[in-house]
Amino acid sequence: MDLSLDAGPEIVAIPGPTVMPERVLAAIRHPMPDIYAGELTEVIDEVWAALPGIARTAGRVYVAIGNGHAGWEMALTNTLCRGDRVLVLECGRFATVWGEMASFNGIDVEVLYADRGRAVDPAAVAERLAADTEREIKAILTVQSDTASSIRNDIPAIRRALDEADHPALLMVDCIASMACEPYFMDDWGVDVTVSASQKGLMTPPGLGFVWAGPRALAAHERADLQTRYWDWTYRVEDGPYYLRFCGTPPVSHLFALRESLRMIDEEGMEARWARHRVLGAAVRAAVGAWSTDDGLALFAADPAERSDAVTLITTGSIDPAAISATCRERMGVTLGLGIGDFGPSFRIGHMGHVNAPMILGVLGSVEAALGAIGAPVGGSGVAAAAAVLADELRRG
Ligand SMILES: Cc1ncc(COP(=O)(O)O)c(C=O)c1O
Repeated sequence: MDLSLDAGPEIVAIPGPTVMPERVLAAIRHPMPDIYAGELTEVIDEVWAALPGIARTAGRVYVAIGNGHAGWEMALTNTLCRGDRVLVLECGRFATVWGEMASFNGIDVEVLYADRGRAVDPAAVAERLAADTEREIKAILTVQSDTASSIRNDIPAIRRALDEADHPALLMVDCIASMACEPYFMDDWGVDVTVSASQKGLMTPPGLGFVWAGPRALAAHERADLQTRYWDWTYRVEDGPYYLRFCGTPPVSHLFALRESLRMIDEEGMEARWARHRVLGAAVRAAVGAWSTDDGLALFAADPAERSDAVTLITTGSIDPAAISATCRERMGVTLGLGIGDFGPSFRIGHMGHVNAPMILGVLGSVEAALGAIGAPVGGSGVAAAAAVLADELRRG
């Protein structure tokens, strides 16, 4: 008989959808209310009041009943015109997919790739923008933290590249993996459009996309010609009827859940939340550093400053990642993220949202046990290295 150690709560450590807090789960279990007046309208008001602060903007927010892709499409179709050119800045996988969506909508897409294992190079962006003397590029599409590569781009540096070239393109940033996990200041950083979704740092079931729009995006909306009746921002204004804000019946259960998660974020405090993610991310990275061997485990993101605090991609060299993840899942009840994208044998650990130190130590301990069980070579104890990071951080703060 194969020994199984998986009875008890399962830990799902994929980079989204993430663990849902009990409070959020309980909030979903709410009978259907009137959708035109009463409690639901109070929920919607509270959600709308809180969402701009999450992205640190005074701009407008639009909520799509859909996933991150819905947010992407809403952002593109409300700000751009058929035949416009966009510059996609890719350091992983997701900016390219956003670009593919733009192509489908009749937008001309150019992709600027970062070096393998590195974030987008702001100097390369500046150079490309300076060469665009006809100002054909109407928008930059990029991702703050790419969930496939676990690389974080320097959004303020990309903004500076636009400013240096005195280029008017809109700056659009996908914060689907990073929102409420990593520091982000939409207005201070000069971002025109921010896109996120409910199922990662926002701890709410998949099904809501969010688009925050600053003044330049709203001005672009006036001339955009890609709107469809469903996604068009025109009728989705917060001083209009609640029903029209969603172009139909509101996503009632999601809204109750989201209100609860936004309350939890407020209670924890955004800075405290960013600090928690920073420390837990550092613990994961320290573990991988300790496990690393030649031709074995390694962090994919080459530069420490470019490593996401929400997710970590671990390349496995000659070790089979399927053997690690199967041992974790089937025998210890821990689900890891598979590697996606063109990064070779790999797996991912999500450390975003409703996660704490014992969950992370449990995941790391399970990976370490799996590595031992399959006879994979490791440099040293990742768990010890992670605990040392936590001890050091706890001592300091
Ligand atoms: C960075 C990033 N952008 C976009 C998406 C797409 O979001 P969705 O799957 O909700 O459509 C994901 C999903 O994992 C993501 O991680």
